[in-house]
Amino acid sequence: MGFDKVITGGRIVTPEGIIEGDLAIEGEKIVAIGPGLADMASEIIDAEGHLVLPGAIDVHTHLELPFCGTVSSDDWITGSRAAARGGVTSLIDFAIPFGDQTLSEALDSWHAKARGKSLIDYGFHMVMTNETHVTQMETMFERGVPSFKEFMIYEAQGWQAHDGTLFRTLERLKDMGGMLMVHAESAKVLDELIGRYHTPEAMKQYGARLHTMTRPDFTESEAVQRAVKWSEVTGGSLYIVHMSAGESAEVVRQAQEKGVPVLAETCPQYLALDDEVFSREDGHLFGTCPQIKSKGNDDRLWQGLADGELAVVATDTCSFTREQKAMWEGDFTKIPMGMPGLETMLPILYTLGVQKGRMDIETMTAKLSTNPAKIMGLYPKKGSIEVGSDADIVIIHPDKTHEVIPDEMETNTDWSPFEGWHLAGFARTTLSRGEVIVDKYKVCGEMGRGQWLPRDKAGFVKGLR
Ligand code: URP
Ligand code: ZN
Ligand code: ZN
Repeated sequence: MGFDKVITGGRIVTPEGIIEGDLAIEGEKIVAIGPGLADMASEIIDAEGHLVLPGAIDVHTHLELPFCGTVSSDDWITGSRAAARGGVTSLIDFAIPFGDQTLSEALDSWHAKARGKSLIDYGFHMVMTNETHVTQMETMFERGVPSFKEFMIYEAQGWQAHDGTLFRTLERLKDMGGMLMVHAESAKVLDELIGRYHTPEAMKQYGARLHTMTRPDFTESEAVQRAVKWSEVTGGSLYIVHMSAGESAEVVRQAQEKGVPVLAETCPQYLALDDEVFSREDGHLFGTCPQIKSKGNDDRLWQGLADGELAVVATDTCSFTREQKAMWEGDFTKIPMGMPGLETMLPILYTLGVQKGRMDIETMTAKLSTNPAKIMGLYPKKGSIEVGSDADIVIIHPDKTHEVIPDEMETNTDWSPFEGWHLAGFARTTLSRGEVIVDKYKVCGEMGRGQWLPRDKAGFVKGLR
């Protein structure tokens, strides 16, 4: 018996712990893990001195999204190349209906954007922007999309879901299965606070700092609290996206202790940065919703990852170039909101999390791969190094660092939130379904090879690491 490929000499991170041994691949699948497999290989991938991890799954991206008067600059080509270089082997993007589109029409248009372009495998969540969409959820299940999203803000975009819609969605999901992902911020209070400072004088005086001055922590945690209450009374599975405030983590922790089916995600920008960035000359580049919070929130979020109330790290990739960000022209309400992230998520978590002793490598793997796979209905096909799983694998060096230099990156932006940082954890090798798509830190896979990932379930999972 022989194997197509064997990865030898690395430290393999599995759900049961780290194994020093070989990993054998036949076709697209992992078929054996253990010592002495190399002799039976047609091709050897040398991982001596490296860590062998399951590829990360980024469950929160916005590729090629029309938003804030422009279109996010990473599309399915640049976004998926950036992903691969950052060790991400699957992503799930949010399909959003525009105008009076049905959910099915929005899904068709997202398929059309992605088809034939992506380097890695991908799925979709479906955003619901009005009451009618709630009646169309069954069709989405039939079409392989069991995770939904509603925004508590973005009235101007026509995306905001009202409280009654959120409540009704959770009620329906309780019966149907599936999960509601929520962008939790308190729209009316934000309107009030933004209105107070939206004057020529204040904008001249404070510039991009107004983005953070008008969004105090409670505008997130209060909204999280409401959504959590609705999950408690309906029993519908809830997932808070891009959680940024320490006090929101506290709300989630208390709810989970009571048995509420709520999960939460945070993003590298909230773990690695604080609101000092808005005082920089180019502070507007960092505009994102919710905004990056003050020092101290980051520590609470790291704690939440270690303790378990935060189950997932995802990027919320919504890239804009400097030219696009310049559209703000000094008005903090006009900043194209979002930032790149796919290429740096794993390196940030590895460098600031594992290397700094905030989490062990198994926990990192849980937050980036296994937990998102389980919650989104992709496990055990994705998210884990196990016999029978897809051979979606990333090989990283434990110490070797690379400087973040936007010109040398795959991401289609001319800046990075982490520009000039020296990060370990970039992918030396990435395999997607057994195929090498990154070799020696360079993307080498064929564009368009990525497959759509239909799913039949998503929802709260108990006892995640
Ligand atoms: O500012 C952000 N995060 N842009 C993307 C849309 C969203 O709210 O996730
Ligand atoms: Zn959001
Ligand atoms: Zn988002």
